Amino acid sequence: MYLTKEEERMLDGEYGHAVKKSMEILSALGDIYGAEKLIKVGSVQIAGVSYHNLGDAGLEYLNGLAKDGRVRVITTLNPAGMDLENWRNLGISEEFAKKQNLVIEAFRKMGIIVSCTCTPYLIGNLPRYREHIAWAESSAVTFANSVIGAMTNREGGPSALAAAFIGKTPLYGLHLEKNRIPDVHVEVNTELKKFSDWGALGYCIGKNANNRISYITGIKEASMEELKSFCASVVTYGSKPLFYIKGITPGFEKYETPKEKITVTEEDIKKAYDEINDDTDTIEFVFIGCPHSSIKEISQIAEKLKGKKISSKVEFWVATPRPIKQLSDDRGYTKIIEDAGGKFACDTCVAVAPLKGRFKSLATTSAKACYYSRGHNLMKTKLGSLEQCIDAGVTGKWE
Ligand code: F3S
Repeated sequence: MYLTKEEERMLDGEYGHAVKKSMEILSALGDIYGAEKLIKVGSVQIAGVSYHNLGDAGLEYLNGLAKDGRVRVITTLNPAGMDLENWRNLGISEEFAKKQNLVIEAFRKMGIIVSCTCTPYLIGNLPRYREHIAWAESSAVTFANSVIGAMTNREGGPSALAAAFIGKTPLYGLHLEKNRIPDVHVEVNTELKKFSDWGALGYCIGKNANNRISYITGIKEASMEELKSFCASVVTYGSKPLFYIKGITPGFEKYETPKEKITVTEEDIKKAYDEINDDTDTIEFVFIGCPHSSIKEISQIAEKLKGKKISSKVEFWVATPRPIKQLSDDRGYTKIIEDAGGKFACDTCVAVAPLKGRFKSLATTSAKACYYSRGHNLMKTKLGSLEQCIDAGVTGKWE
């Protein structure tokens, strides 16, 4: 890959340890993927923030970089292993909190915004159409590419951090127009009746299209929240962080409908629920906010929880970015949710908090949350509507 004189000096170590290490990562990636050069990025989203996943080795690596590494572009953080303020109330141990705070301090020292959310686009890290960015976190990458029309590969933790220190990323993959052409037509031949159906649809398309770019037809409308949920699911059960929905997401008009066709029917959606849902009647944990909730979602939770009481046998978490929690506080939604026995979990999520062994079963509106709770945390999972999840919170049962 071609390097400018300045980039060569960075690689030679003239700009310090973190920049040198970052240039090594970016040039290796560029060489592997045949990138012509590095291009500037408008922002970075970092994943790999939870001490639960990083461990001491990861913390040591970050501390090494934090000695002289400072980010050159706006950089935000994915969820951490705990709510940075309210961790005690969510049952996180003192020991874990100490380590997690050290991780956060290392990121803070690098000049990173300690946003700790997977929906950075809801709180100010909002790229524009066709802007090159370097984001990690699969749901956010898929949202940025597909719903916003920005251009990013699905970065890993180290490559995103390297892009933040250099302000650039190698020009390959989804940064190139030629790699953004849809290659499979997905016709949705059924109505999506409830919010969780978007997660089930993501399961069907992800499993079938896998690493191909879908050109989806048959959907007449979609809210930002539904698209956010679909993004999380389609890339979790498949792997391509880009799709087009005719008439809804940007850029679809540039392309012809691909010849190869997949059809999703009502039967497929039912089958997706059957495969995602485990056999359990009792629910110990309800998690809403995967990806992190918007203020609209919080208002809906408050409206449906008003006057109800969460069972003492159930832990009920609402995950949202902290600035959105502040709006919720101001509007009175927080009080309604907390009076009902719900808890806010800012800065964290069901996949990266140390939850293994704490709960046997989960109810959620998110297909992605089911995937990680079953796979990582060995919970039995139930995917359903917000009403079903709230009922499960109140009764401790899945009806
Ligand atoms: Fe976000 Fe965690 Fe879900 S990172 S998308 S809340 S699994």
